[in-house]
Amino acid sequence: MIVSLDGSYRWIRPLRAEDIPFLRQWEEDPEIAYFCGRKFAPGEGDLGWWQAMLRERDRTAFAIIGPQRELIGDLELEHIAWRAGEAELRVSIGDKRYWNRGIGSAALKEALDVAFGELDCALVYLKVTEDNLRAIHVYQKLGFRKIGILPASERLPGLPRLVLMELDREGYYGNDRSAAKAGVGSTAAG
Ligand SMILES: CC(C)(COP(=O)(O)OP(=O)(O)OC[C@H]1O[C@@H](n2cnc3c(N)ncnc32)[C@H](O)[C@@H]1OP(=O)(O)O)[C@@H](O)C(=O)NCCC(=O)NCCS
Repeated sequence: MIVSLDGSYRWIRPLRAEDIPFLRQWEEDPEIAYFCGRKFAPGEGDLGWWQAMLRERDRTAFAIIGPQRELIGDLELEHIAWRAGEAELRVSIGDKRYWNRGIGSAALKEALDVAFGELDCALVYLKVTEDNLRAIHVYQKLGFRKIGILPASERLPGLPRLVLMELDREGYYGNDRSAAKAGVGSTAAG
């Protein structure tokens, strides 16, 4: 499902078919694959994931766009449970030159605006590897709270433990998010 956005969104736009090869390429980076897992099944054609995205109503995806409006990453709201009002959030800035420039925080904020606004979610949750301190810091800044630890699977040794985090609508709108916004203006333009 692709959700259209009005002109008030600066750091995200609906994902497009032509973005998919870039997402697939970034996923080949071991660091990105470690932090984000893999969304493209091995051997799957480039457009299989995209066609499922268009078809399925329980997920939607956005491109993250940089200072020149170039594609730099992607964001997904998936496992959307419409009746329960819950969705899982996933984010990746695949172009590493744009890490630590405030764009991730700003793009996440816009995705949360979509989730709690247009999609009328009551709760957004995510899973993050325990050692991804930058991501955890950003999530906490946006109001996410750590809920628990998901133990690594014994069947797949070597995988890191995951932290489950969640944010409800009240927590989001009660949170002072102006700092995240200010960070972008001062760092991403240059
Ligand atoms: C996680 C991610 C979305 C964050 O976006 P970003 O644009 O790099 O982050 P921002 O610049 O908005 O914010 C980074 C914050 O983390 C802080 N930070 C950076 N490295 C840190 C570290 N090792 N430990 C703690 N905080 C750290 C920065 O100081 C900054 O904090 P501040 O805003 O309070 O000054 C992005 O880095 C990314 O996609 N990384 C790779 C994939 C990934 O990890 N995805 C998440 C999977 S759950």
